[in-house]
Amino acid sequence: MRGVWQKLAAWLGGRTPTPQPSHRYTFPLAAFPDGQGTPLSVGGRRLAVFHLGERVFVIENSCSHNRSPLAGGTVSGTVVTCRTHRARFSLETGRAVGGPTRRPVRTYPVTVTEGRVVITVS
Ligand code: FES
Repeated sequence: MRGVWQKLAAWLGGRTPTPQPSHRYTFPLAAFPDGQGTPLSVGGRRLAVFHLGERVFVIENSCSHNRSPLAGGTVSGTVVTCRTHRARFSLETGRAVGGPTRRPVRTYPVTVTEGRVVITVS
């Protein structure tokens, strides 16, 4: 990790970027209905939490095309489709996989342990 910061500092002309602190937020898994997205605001971020069976994905709750909320999108497999203009995003990577934009959406690290969901936001 140190090498990455040194390369970034060199790229920035010697200025060293300040790593952003990360915060962990814990929720009961039951707070997120299975098979759909749920909007969530934590740490000043608008997130969309997708509880899909044994897996949980967290992405920003703002479509990269025109900022529509993605939590209410249609889920098929691990892809969510924005309701507004049908942009499609991988819940695993945030990559745009179809529709009117190629810009990705941000994903957030998440773990599920013993019925608790831990989301890391930085
Ligand atoms: S706002 Fe999501 S596709 Fe246009």
